[in-house]
Amino acid sequence: MYKGLLHSHTFFVLVFLIHYIVKLILLLTNKKEPLAKYTKATRIPEMIFSFGFLASGLGMLISSAVFSKFLIIKLICVFTSIPLAIIGFKKSNKALAFIAVFLLIMSYGLAEMHKKSLAGKTTAASGQSIYTETCFKCHGADGKLGVNGAKDLSITLLSAEEQRVIIINGKGAMSGYKDLTAAQLDSVVQYIATLKQ
Ligand code: HEC
Repeated sequence: MYKGLLHSHTFFVLVFLIHYIVKLILLLTNKKEPLAKYTKATRIPEMIFSFGFLASGLGMLISSAVFSKFLIIKLICVFTSIPLAIIGFKKSNKALAFIAVFLLIMSYGLAEMHKKSLAGKTTAASGQSIYTETCFKCHGADGKLGVNGAKDLSITLLSAEEQRVIIINGKGAMSGYKDLTAAQLDSVVQYIATLKQ
């Protein structure tokens, strides 16, 4: 449900953004006639897309109910940009229209960045818990402990792929961890990368 909403939201937002970028370019390049024509031709689709954009966003808010600081900044950007866009394009005010579109692009960029950092964090976090439960006793918190000749992970020269092979099959005094899933393996390798200095 949430995933579906997210995909349709991203789609509506992208179409909305492209639409406003086109309008802004026409406004900034003084193409008054084409702008008027374009605005008229897209009036109804625009209404449908704004509705889809707001409704899917609202649906996501209700179904996730997580208000991060980040989300609040994004909402402020979006809800400031809407009246600015309406006034800016109605009065052909280039500065206002520019700010409105800029705010929209920024909130989209913020959303994408946030998604990436979140994904990075969750995998590194689960990697950390696997590491502390199973690898810690030989490799230590910082990777340097060296129990039983365990290699210093903070200075390992192995690629992620080579590390994966050793973690699964084991090497020397280290037994293999064959029951790690591919995702767990990825996350623990990602965690090892954070130990590098
Ligand atoms: C029983 C102690 C022990 C445990 C537990 C252990 N290791 Fe090791 N690890 C070693 C030893 C010993 C080596 C060196 C093997 C060799 O090169 O002969 C090693 C090597 C490695 C290497 C290769 C590093 C390099 O630069 O060659 C990686 C990567 C690694 N371990 C990751 C892990 C991870 C991830 C875990 C937990 C899932 C883990 N180890 C648990 C003892 C251990």
